[in-house]
Amino acid sequence: MQDLKSYSPAKDLLKNRVVLVTGAGQGIGRAAALAYAMHGATVILHGRNIKKLEGVYDEIEAAGGVQPAIFPLDLEKAEDKDFLALAYGIKQQLGRLDGILHNAALLFNLTPLESQTLDQWQSLLRVNLIAPFALTRACLALLKASPDAHVIMTSDSHGHAPAAYWGGFAVAKAGVEALVRIQAQEWDILPNLHINVIIPGPTHTPQRTRTHPGEIKYSLPQPQDLMPYYLYLMGPDSTTVRGETIFCRGHV
Ligand SMILES: NC(=O)c1ccc[n+]([C@@H]2O[C@H](COP(=O)([O-])OP(=O)(O)OC[C@H]3O[C@@H](n4cnc5c(N)ncnc54)[C@H](OP(=O)(O)O)[C@@H]3O)[C@@H](O)[C@H]2O)c1
Repeated sequence: MQDLKSYSPAKDLLKNRVVLVTGAGQGIGRAAALAYAMHGATVILHGRNIKKLEGVYDEIEAAGGVQPAIFPLDLEKAEDKDFLALAYGIKQQLGRLDGILHNAALLFNLTPLESQTLDQWQSLLRVNLIAPFALTRACLALLKASPDAHVIMTSDSHGHAPAAYWGGFAVAKAGVEALVRIQAQEWDILPNLHINVIIPGPTHTPQRTRTHPGEIKYSLPQPQDLMPYYLYLMGPDSTTVRGETIFCRGHV
């Protein structure tokens, strides 16, 4: 694989492609939605908070990006029929789907396992693990119809190497890495389908503020610093990369 620190995507890398970004209203998802739009993609902005999604929609339009679309859905409550309805809406409105960035995440305060409840675990598993599985599955026919489809799932260093107090969040993220490995093997016979995991590393976002309240925020990389990795994995330059875990180390 090439050194992603020096990756310089073509301006039209994602031209004529439709890409769904979950959790696009803030943080890394917002930055990815803007980066994909500025490289030619029609971006489907997903999240819970419509006001935030409308803000990103306006930013993309103001920057001269292709007009995006907004598809709200609460991943904690969504059932199979809701994921299928979202996929149907994409087909009706946009006619195709060439990529999904599963970025949305739920994280509670860090606590020992003995303080974590069943309800919290169900929410953590639903948003962080079950939703990426169910949404990918619901969109499979669209992805299969794309000549070059890329699915990116998001893990965390505490999912890759589980650690005390990260509880259900770490277990869900570890599950994401297992899910990607299984899916990549099953897609081995489908040369147009790619799936990989990205681990952003410490980044200045609202989620990081919750887990590390005492940290000096501006010493951290900004979400836009990670975008060469996110662009690489979503576009045709990563066609030979499958089932890999990519760390955004030493952000470009
Ligand atoms: N920031 C870091 O340092 C860091 C480090 C390692 C891994 N990561 C991973 O990178 C990804 C992005 O992180 P971030 O820091 O940018 O996160 P963030 O600022 O907390 O944003 C999370 C996004 O997820 C969405 N979301 C949460 N619950 C949802 C639900 N039930 N239904 C629909 N959307 C929901 C939120 O949408 P609404 O705003 O609409 O509610 C929000 O846009 C996550 O997967 C995270 O685990 C981040």
